[in-house]
Amino acid sequence: MGHTIWIRANSLFTFASTALALVAILASITDIWHTAEPDVFLRVKSVERFRPVSPNAHRKKASSNNNEVNDEASLNFQLRLDLRPLFSWNTKQIFVSIDADYETERNKRNTISLWDSIVTQKTNALLNYQNVRNKYRFIDQGTHLRGREVNYTVRWEVMPVAGKLYGGKKLVERVKMPDEYVN
Ligand SMILES: *[C@@H]1O[C@H](CO)[C@@H](O)[C@H](O)[C@H]1NC(C)=O
Repeated sequence: MGHTIWIRANSLFTFASTALALVAILASITDIWHTAEPDVFLRVKSVERFRPVSPNAHRKKASSNNNEVNDEASLNFQLRLDLRPLFSWNTKQIFVSIDADYETERNKRNTISLWDSIVTQKTNALLNYQNVRNKYRFIDQGTHLRGREVNYTVRWEVMPVAGKLYGGKKLVERVKMPDEYVN
């Protein structure tokens, strides 16, 4: 008696794990085909501050030359981001960011993340902000920002309950920095 109960419990357990594995496989397959796009509107409203900062004004990170002066900018964006199309039964959370990309003589590619957020519920997935200021410092490695063309990109990454992470990005604006510093 005890023996057959054990076998039954065991096969039930096997069935449950198989079912769970199937759900995980299905989830990752549907995620591969998940092509929903968020609705993105981003506008640089103003450059509120733009100036060279000396090294003792902030902690040095990637720069090797310690006496170097770096351009720093503070921006104000208008952001409307509808992430609701990205939410499905398999969505755990969505990470979004605003990134600045630009080219300088010094670096072929500069990518600076200016702002980010994590959305965990569909009911909170419509973001509509009149004023978003950069949360992370917009600092150049040097003083190359005056008159520089900067691409502003919204990136998103969907973390599913089961399956692989997937994401996308949208280049929203290409804006030239002011030719002169702003105070
Ligand atoms: C900025 O966007 C333009 C237009 O898509 C592209 O040609 C250029 O390579 C981008 N620059 C950078 C640094 O990402």
